[in-house]
Amino acid sequence: MSKRVRITDVSPRDGLQNEPGVIATADKVRLVELLGGAGVDEVEVSSFVSPKWVPQLADATDVFAALRGRKPPGVVYSALVPNEHGMRAALSVNQAAGERLIDKVAVFTAASETFSRRNTNATIAETLERFVPVVRLARESALPVRGYVSCAVQCPYEGPVAPERVADVAARLLDLGVDEIDLGETIGAGTPESVSAMLEAVMSRLGAGSGGAASAPLLTLHLHDTFGRAADCVRAALRLGVRSFDGAAGGLGGCPFASTPARRVPGNIATETLARVVIEEGYAVGLNPEALALAAAHARGLRAGA
Ligand code: HMG
Ligand code: MG
Repeated sequence: MSKRVRITDVSPRDGLQNEPGVIATADKVRLVELLGGAGVDEVEVSSFVSPKWVPQLADATDVFAALRGRKPPGVVYSALVPNEHGMRAALSVNQAAGERLIDKVAVFTAASETFSRRNTNATIAETLERFVPVVRLARESALPVRGYVSCAVQCPYEGPVAPERVADVAARLLDLGVDEIDLGETIGAGTPESVSAMLEAVMSRLGAGSGGAASAPLLTLHLHDTFGRAADCVRAALRLGVRSFDGAAGGLGGCPFASTPARRVPGNIATETLARVVIEEGYAVGLNPEALALAAAHARGLRAGA
């Protein structure tokens, strides 16, 4: 089984989407460049979602424009798209750049109906319908598609989510033509036990992530660290064969459902913590620790009140 673990840094997207303050486009660009320089395998750079829903990422096109001609070799840049509208905006970036600046797009749905409606104003089935033209357009441009399943362990509105529901949604995404599955532990409520139960259900349904079948889709685990258990969940996932994780430099993010004005809870698992845990467990990552520390310091500096 492979000893190399793939790391995607989602701080420019997931980390910044909830920030209350205005963050300059140039600071976002700098974060992406520092992450690429640190050797992460992939950077989720921004979202082509409605600016009314997520004003913080309304400058996605500008961020990508500033990155033209400067992408380090080997780094994948990805962008979140919720529908055909967002997909066309993402494709325009590549057309305007005259290069493949966006290498991959990510669609997102959930294993909880309530969360799906709150996040995208659509049922799970409706989100999947929206993805049909996204996947078609991605195929035409030879862009791979990642499919997120949020609330993979627990929903902030509905509570615990049955692992079989997560496996169902993941299977439906793959049926649509999505290339990879990303399991979002959205609110950080998971434990090693509940994350393992979810992963086992998904893996047994998809045959994914085990490093076994060559045709198995890549399975990524996306953890938030709200209650400080994300590192233990990474260890449990590694034991089950997961070899791809999302993190956010500096632990950026912060679940809006768990934070209070007085105390802001931690966000995504910090990429530097993720890398440390993966190495402690005997696996390899492609990261330069000093360069990652610089990226994390820059990321932390972007937080409101930093
Ligand atoms: P809607 O209001 O239902 O959309 O939003 P609509 O199709 O009815 O369109 C309404 C207006 O939005 C129209 O404009 C559209 O043109 C426009 P108007 O006529 O009113 O001027 N519109 C768009 N504008 C820009 N970009 C677009 C777009 N689509 C429509 N792509 C929609 C539906 C999905 C767009 C909205 O709900 C939305 O943008 N939601 C995004 C929510 C979001 O970004 N959440 C965070 C990311 S998910 C996440 O963080 C979880 C994850 O990290 C994993 C985990 O932790 O679990 C991935
Ligand atoms: Mg997230």
